[in-house]
Amino acid sequence: MNGVFMKDQLIIFDTTLRDGEQSPGASMTRDEKVRIAKALERLKVDVIEAGFPAASPGDFEAVQAVAKIIKDSTVCGLARALDKDIDRAGEALKQAGRRRIHTFIATSPIHMQMKLNMSPEQVIEYAVRAVKRARQYTDDVEFSPEDAGRSEEDFLCRILEAVIDAGATTLNIPDTVGYSIPQQFGATIANLMARIPNADKAIFSVHCHNDLGLAVANSLSAVMNGARQVECTINGLGERAGNASLEEVVMAVRTRQDVFACQTRIDTREILTCSKLVSTITGFPVQPNKAIVGANAFAHEAGIHQDGVLKSRETYEIMRAEDVGWSANRMVLGKHSGRNAFKSRITELGFEFASEAEINDAFARFKLLADKKHEIFDEDLQALISETSTEGEEERVKLISLKVCSETGEVPNAQVTLRIDNKEAVGCAEGGGVVDATLKAIEQLVKTEATLALYSVNNITNGTDAQGEVTVRLEKAGRIVNGLGADTDIVVASAKAYINAVNKLHQPNERQHPQMAEV
Ligand code: KIV
Ligand code: ZN
Repeated sequence: MNGVFMKDQLIIFDTTLRDGEQSPGASMTRDEKVRIAKALERLKVDVIEAGFPAASPGDFEAVQAVAKIIKDSTVCGLARALDKDIDRAGEALKQAGRRRIHTFIATSPIHMQMKLNMSPEQVIEYAVRAVKRARQYTDDVEFSPEDAGRSEEDFLCRILEAVIDAGATTLNIPDTVGYSIPQQFGATIANLMARIPNADKAIFSVHCHNDLGLAVANSLSAVMNGARQVECTINGLGERAGNASLEEVVMAVRTRQDVFACQTRIDTREILTCSKLVSTITGFPVQPNKAIVGANAFAHEAGIHQDGVLKSRETYEIMRAEDVGWSANRMVLGKHSGRNAFKSRITELGFEFASEAEINDAFARFKLLADKKHEIFDEDLQALISETSTEGEEERVKLISLKVCSETGEVPNAQVTLRIDNKEAVGCAEGGGVVDATLKAIEQLVKTEATLALYSVNNITNGTDAQGEVTVRLEKAGRIVNGLGADTDIVVASAKAYINAVNKLHQPNERQHPQMAEV
C-alpha cells in the first residue's frame, strides 16, 4: 500500500428506531420512523435497526416502510431466537436493498434461569437454529448474547463459536444492563476475539447501555480492543438511562485519530439535524450541556475562554462547531416565500407529503407562522410538520380555540373550545397561571384522569418571537405517552401538546417488548 496506513472501517449501527423507541414514551409512528431513517441515511449510518417486526402489526409495517425507502444503509430487523420472529423479520425486510436480521437470546446465568428457564445447552441450540433460519433470508446475520456483560466468558466463547459456524457474520456483545466498566469490557472483547477459534469470520460489535453513565466509554474501550461495529442511538436515547450516544462515539473516534485505528463513514455535518429531529419527534429534549448536540456544547461563557477562542479557537475547542452541523440558525424562509420554496425545503429536510392537499395544509400553517415570526428556520419547519404528523388518521380531539385571561391580582383563567369525536365542547377553568388553567380546562373536557408526569418548554430558535416547543408526558395505567406542541405563544403550544398526548393515549398499543417476552 505504498507505506500508506489504511484504517479499518468502524461500522455505525444505529438503533434509535428500535432500542431508542423502547424508552418509555418515545414510541414513533411509521411516518416518523421513515423520516428519521432518511435523516440517518443522510448521516451515512451503515446499519439502521428499524424495529422489532414481531412486536406488533404497526412495528412490522414501520420496518417494511423503512426497508422500502432506504437505499444506501443496510436495514435491520430484530428477532428473538424464535422461528416466528425470524420469519416476520425476513418478511418485513423483503424489499430492502441491503438487509440484516439481528437475532438474540440471553446468556447470563440470571437471565437463562429466571427469565428463560432454559439450560445453557438449550440456549446454544436455540441460538444456532435461529441463525440458520435467518440465513435463509439474508447472508447478513447478527447474533447477540443478551446480557453478555454479566455472562460467563467461557459460555460466551462456546455460544459465539457455534453461531459463527451456523452463519452469523456479526457478533454483538451487549452490556444490556449497563453494568460494565471500560477497562474490563475492553478486555472481554479482546479475550473473546483471541479465544474463539473462528473469530476472524465475524465482525465484533458492542451495544452498551448507560446505567452507570459509561455506555460511550465502554463502547470506545471495546473499539480500542478490536470491536469494529458500535451500536448506538441519536442523543443516547434508549431503555432506562439510554444507549451509547452516536454523536459522542463518532466524534470521539474522529477527534482522536491518534488513538483509534479506525474511522467511520459518518457525515458529521448532519449530526445536529438528526439530533433535533429525534428530539422533536420523541419529545425528549436535549440537555443544554449534552456533548456535541447540547445548546451549550460550543458556547464559551468564561471571559478567559472567550478571549482564548477569539485569539485562536484551538485554545479551548477540540472540534469545530460547524463540523457537527452547528451554524448560526439559518434563515431559510420568510413571509414572502412561495409554495415551491416551502415544498422544496421541506423535502430537503426529509419530509414527504402524501397528497397535494397535505402540502396546501402545511403551507397554510407555514403562512400563519410567518405572519407571527419573520424568519423561519429549519427547526421551525420541523416542528411545524412534526406536530401534525398523524399518519392520515383523524385526531379524536382537536383544539378549536383558546382564550386566556391573566391580570395582576386576579386568578388566571382559560376558556377552551375543543372538537371531541366531531362534537364541539367548551371548558373553563382557573389555575395558578394561564398554562395551568388551560390544561385544567382541557382535562375537564377530555377526562383522561392521567397523571401529568412532565411538562417542559424549550425555545426552538432564539429571540422572544421564537416558537416554544412544549412536551407534556401523561401516565395512565402503566402507559406513558409524550405529547408535543409548538407555537409562538407557549400557552397555545401547551394546549396543543396536552391534546397531542391525549390523542396518543387513545391509540391502541399492543406491542410486545422484545426482551420481556418469553422464548
Ligand atoms: O440491550 C440489549 O441487550 C439489546 C439486545 C436486544 C441486543 O437491546
Ligand atoms: Zn439494548
